[in-house]
Amino acid sequence: MQVWTKVQAARKPQKNEDGEEEDPIDVSGEEFQQQLAEELYAGEPTEGPFAIKRIVSMGLYFGERTPRPEVAPGVKVDPAFDTEVTPKKGMGVTLGPEGDVYAGEYKAGKRHGRGALRAATGAVYVGGWEEGKKSGQGRMTYADGSTYDGAWKQGVRHGRGTYTHTNGDMYVGEWWANQKQGQGRYCQKAQGLMYEGTWKLGKLVSAKVTMSDGSCFFSKFEGGRPVGPSGFAMSNGAAIMGNFKGAEKAGEEEEETEEAAAPPPPSTWEGGELGAVDGMTEQRMREQYCTVKPTLNVVISGPPASGKGTAAEEIVKAYGLVHVSTGDMLRAATEDESNEDGQKAKEFMNEGQLVPDELIISIVVARLQQKDCLEKGWLLDGFPRTAVQAAEMQKHFIVPTKVVILECGDDVIVERISGRRLDPQTGKIYHLTFNAPADSEDGTAAEIMERLTQREDDTEETVRKRLAAYASNKTAVQDAFSNICMVVDANRDKGVIWEEIKTFLEQ
Ligand code: AP5
Repeated sequence: MQVWTKVQAARKPQKNEDGEEEDPIDVSGEEFQQQLAEELYAGEPTEGPFAIKRIVSMGLYFGERTPRPEVAPGVKVDPAFDTEVTPKKGMGVTLGPEGDVYAGEYKAGKRHGRGALRAATGAVYVGGWEEGKKSGQGRMTYADGSTYDGAWKQGVRHGRGTYTHTNGDMYVGEWWANQKQGQGRYCQKAQGLMYEGTWKLGKLVSAKVTMSDGSCFFSKFEGGRPVGPSGFAMSNGAAIMGNFKGAEKAGEEEEETEEAAAPPPPSTWEGGELGAVDGMTEQRMREQYCTVKPTLNVVISGPPASGKGTAAEEIVKAYGLVHVSTGDMLRAATEDESNEDGQKAKEFMNEGQLVPDELIISIVVARLQQKDCLEKGWLLDGFPRTAVQAAEMQKHFIVPTKVVILECGDDVIVERISGRRLDPQTGKIYHLTFNAPADSEDGTAAEIMERLTQREDDTEETVRKRLAAYASNKTAVQDAFSNICMVVDANRDKGVIWEEIKTFLEQ
């Protein structure tokens, strides 16, 4: 304890003889550690330096631990050091090396259960923990005094919660992966405005805004400002329909943080058809001016050559989604000889096997977290294929709104594979019998035929292996998303299949 106190004191900025602030002492440096060892452990020269090093790098722990397994006779274990004792389990207090203090429950060496953490920054969290991360219900008081009280998952705000800013502004509503997302209410104290609306990726996209005099307006929002067709309901019973002209954007839009102020009030108002509120109820204004289409995120799954890519073409065209095909991404990586992962994947793909989970997961997660996918929505083709991949999606807050599973007989698949051809110029998929090229804007049928290629893994031998790999993981996707998935009989005409998928996606 004495060592920890001295280490913490040394970490603080020091003052020299003239009262000027100096840099904190380098507590991990040899010089400081040597000095402390001499001062505190003069009688125990071997234990001293080790104890100090340990406190500098790992902190101190007082509390319960997993019962120690039998120690073989003659083996000496020093219970003073974490590195040599069993994982923390039960109640305990940790004084972290950086000055953090945690008091609460542990499991398998990680914070788990209920516990309170006071970070070195001054932030305090009291609430639930799971595998070392904030989880369940909890209250955080940040270093600047703002608070969040609500649901947590994987260490971030996720679910319903209330964020109170230091200026008195307050957001009560839904959160997703640490950002405001979904339905919520924001009270802007200074101007007496109440926003009731929809947030997406931390930004307000539509709202009813009630002003301090009781009048309100309904509008979509962009960059924090109302834009487009909007309606006012005045407190005297009059209604005005008009249009908000969005303010010109000055350069790059700034990233909005939780500390940013609420959206500003309207700046430019055009038009103004005046009428009475009768006939134009609040509900109608809300529907007319505030309806926002939810982002569509779709997974399409099925055995090789069941028609995933073919259906994907229609889906992305109809809904403007970003098509993320793991097969296409991997094939692109295999063509780059300097790409180590690509070369590793090539061996598995040519053998008709799935590439290892660890290789594909990080690629997909990184792609789906890019701006275009977050803003437009995505169609994920060929992922997840295993239970591990499905679980990783959830961990990274990547959750589809709809899942389409194609089912198709093995013999049909072999026939489709043997006739499949790819147009390298347009990326379009053809079939020599079922979907042969025709004269189009891409060229004459003969020109397209001339440039078609066949995939290296489209041999009957490889496809049988790919079918076996699919069969062994077949239920992984269905089990993970059973409440949002539809199984489609893919052994039919592609037009019929598309109509069925479309109906499902629009439900
Ligand atoms: P991937 O490229 O995803 O291959 P796949 O799953 O085997 O599927 P395909 O692309 O072959 O077929 P498809 O279902 O898209 O059918 P298509 O529309 O082309 O993956 C390749 C490899 O990468 C895997 O084997 C694996 O090694 C690796 N990989 C990828 N993702 C992975 C992951 N998540 N984890 C681990 N490894 C991964 O149609 C086929 C043909 O049929 C076409 O010619 C088409 O014109 C025709 N056709 C389509 N629909 C119809 C219809 N209704 N009637 C008649 N013909 C039709």
